[in-house]
Amino acid sequence: MLKLINFENYPDMCKKAASIIAAQIIMKENSVLGLATGSTPIGIYELLSEWCAKGDLDFSRIRTVNLDEYCGLSAAHDQSYRYFMNKHLFDNVNIDKVNTHVPNGLAQDAEREGAKYDELIELLGGIDLQLLGIGHNGHIGFNEPSDFFVSGTHCAKLTQETINANVRFFDDLSQVPKTAVTMGMRSIMNARKILLVANGDKKKDIIQKAINGPVTPKVPASILQLHPDVTILYSIA
Ligand code: F6R
Repeated sequence: MLKLINFENYPDMCKKAASIIAAQIIMKENSVLGLATGSTPIGIYELLSEWCAKGDLDFSRIRTVNLDEYCGLSAAHDQSYRYFMNKHLFDNVNIDKVNTHVPNGLAQDAEREGAKYDELIELLGGIDLQLLGIGHNGHIGFNEPSDFFVSGTHCAKLTQETINANVRFFDDLSQVPKTAVTMGMRSIMNARKILLVANGDKKKDIIQKAINGPVTPKVPASILQLHPDVTILYSIA
């Protein structure tokens, strides 16, 4: 089942998203959280960091698996998703970093690394709550529009649209990685709960397509229509 909740502004949306994640942590203290990067979750991570600093949230037994990582960027690179997660969440909460997992962007054998990542998720007992953003083209993780849904964690070629959208984080277009390791649809769809967040006018159409359009790999997020427990939080501003 898919539930859409609309908000007037980004801070309100973040408060709701952070509350849902906090509830998950309170309900199950060793939850496996699937996490996303990008600009949208930043306000959510800020709130979770704040609540943890106040002593209202305990991350000490939480395990995390991130959706994706750019190929070719080391964890120390300031645009890598590992760096992003440390900066926006892991460094600010009482999580044990050993329990935080981000795909390895430097892996030589992407296929083997992908299989290992999927095994890890299974070993952890699967994802309790997966946080997702959505690209303008409907991508979730870096599962780009395609002729088929890819099941396992894999190396994805980013579309020009995604590369262009990511240039804001780099000095110029030539610096933007063209490939990324991303969780595939199996691990995402096997998550027990999914929370998708999006904001801004420009995401309005793709959210509608994902919710009400046909389920098709051309709009990767449309697969969420087949999941039993998805909440979409959308704020227009
Ligand atoms: C990031 C990710 C991407 C982003 C999406 C939206 O880990 O998986 O799918 O969620 O590109 O990014 P923002 O939030 O920057 O619009």
